[in-house]
Amino acid sequence: MCGIVAYIGPKDIPSVILVGLERLSYRGYDSSGISVMSNNDITTWKKSGKLFNLSNVFKTLNVNAQLGIGHTRWATHGVPNEINAHPHLCPNKKVSIVHNGIIENYASLKKDLQNKGHIFRSETDSEVIAHLIDHYFVDSLEDAVRRACKDLEGSYGLVAISEQDPNKIVAIRNGSPLIVGLGKQDNYLASDINAIINHTKDIMFLEDDECVILTENTVTVTDLSGNTLNKETQHIAWSPEDAEKGGYEHFMLKEIYEQPTVIRSILSKHINDNKINFKHLNLDKRSLSKIGRFIIQACGTSWHAGLIAKYWIEKFARIPTEVDISSEFRYRHLLSSGNEAVIGISQSGETADTLACIREAKSKFFKVFSFVNVKNSSIDRESDGVIYTHSGPEIGVASTKNYLAQLLNIYLFSLYFGFSKKTVSDSELAGRLDELSQLPDLIEKCLQLNDQLKVIAKKYASSRDFIFIGRGVNYPTALEGALKLKEISYIHSTGYPAGELKHGPIALIDANMPIVCLCPQSDTYDKMISNIQEVKARDGKLIIIASEGDDSFNDMSEDIIYIPKCSQDLTPMLSVIPLQLLSYHISIELGCNVDQPRNLAKSVTVE
Ligand code: G6P
Repeated sequence: MCGIVAYIGPKDIPSVILVGLERLSYRGYDSSGISVMSNNDITTWKKSGKLFNLSNVFKTLNVNAQLGIGHTRWATHGVPNEINAHPHLCPNKKVSIVHNGIIENYASLKKDLQNKGHIFRSETDSEVIAHLIDHYFVDSLEDAVRRACKDLEGSYGLVAISEQDPNKIVAIRNGSPLIVGLGKQDNYLASDINAIINHTKDIMFLEDDECVILTENTVTVTDLSGNTLNKETQHIAWSPEDAEKGGYEHFMLKEIYEQPTVIRSILSKHINDNKINFKHLNLDKRSLSKIGRFIIQACGTSWHAGLIAKYWIEKFARIPTEVDISSEFRYRHLLSSGNEAVIGISQSGETADTLACIREAKSKFFKVFSFVNVKNSSIDRESDGVIYTHSGPEIGVASTKNYLAQLLNIYLFSLYFGFSKKTVSDSELAGRLDELSQLPDLIEKCLQLNDQLKVIAKKYASSRDFIFIGRGVNYPTALEGALKLKEISYIHSTGYPAGELKHGPIALIDANMPIVCLCPQSDTYDKMISNIQEVKARDGKLIIIASEGDDSFNDMSEDIIYIPKCSQDLTPMLSVIPLQLLSYHISIELGCNVDQPRNLAKSVTVE
């Protein structure tokens, strides 16, 4: 949550920062602000609401500055108004800071500082950092920042500038991501690569308790005691275009349409000579054979991928698998018989709840494997083995292409385990891989449903509620369909296992209720038909996702969406696509902000 950008160098400071903040808006977008240093003097602008409120200020200003810091906020402490927006300054304006994270002991620190005469303006936890740095300042900003951090409890990625040490930017990380971008005669700091990829691809990933000091020509990283550390620079393969809309109206739509390409690239990365391989799993055959139980933990859309993983892992690898929501996992009494492995699933690799579980699991000596999209993210670095989901940057807050990428990687992982354990035979593996080679084309076909979904979206956009039902491997798809819809259209929607309808939710069904039924060919197809009949008998409005060629629903609904035929195990990778398109078009019908839905953030770095 919250996005940070800082720049020191000859380019136009506000433009570099504003473009970076725009690209980080998925991290929070309720207010924003910039501080620049001009002639050793800090000037700050802050605005509540979307970033364009801040950008507008600079349209008529000519700012000649030597460095600057910027922030886009997702409110935790204090309402999203101008005063609570970052940067925060100490009273004499000598220090300005931006912060991502939560300072848990801010109340007691604030009281101490108030007793020493500091006057606070905002309701935020972050403001205390500016005052503390000011309090500890003697003659160097980095010393003051490092000393201040010793008093802070909680998580932070923070960046500071000071009029008393005006030619540098100092940043420090503890729990919230921060990266350094190295330019030719300039340097950058950001919460995420996307923000600065159009300027440099040479990136340094800060670890917890590392402090970085940027001048125009130097980057120095130290530990908390001020000892210089040698850090590697990595060259990033993502291109700036990956973070652009590429002619689409929204990132979400672009990302939905990128899915066939993403799937092709994953298949080519992990399948060679009809064998599945994972380069970064770090798991030899002996350790693999010892795993007797998987415990999966994830949040949001990644949790839905985890629910599907359970079906596939148990089916192909015959390994009992539990799935937890990360924020619940940590607080249950985990029983271990010594043969468990924990799996984390996360697009961003920074979700605080998921990261906390990984740390908890490692402290209990569990092996930890993760499915992660963002390389070098905290979850990537802290897991014993990783499978990169390889979906490229995902900017739309509602996850689409990365969900599909997670599913395909998990499917391959389940087959890989099954094959290694000999619960999947040579011929079964060959057949499954052969079917997978068709997957990108099948997805292309699903994308051709776009026009039909536009029409259905128009018809149902004024509904107040939606129910999604599915069974077996398509029950999590129902949850995902409901989540997509509520995230971006604010329509109340809920997903249910179809067999559970009769135990309560059926009471909600009347002629105003649209029910999206996931009913492709599967082992539970007949049971699904009975559940759909139950809905029909109560006048529910049916939107049915069925397999091509199935005419059983012709007299039940006008809205039947046909996905291509495939084995039941692949259906979740196809049936979710019409649901992504449905929620996209409903959101457009309602005039909602598709890529930046209210109250949400893509990367949730607070627990
Ligand atoms: C946020 C996003 C969701 C996402 C979830 C988990 O809530 O809005 O779209 O599914 O975090 O994120 P992760 O990066 O861990 O997959």
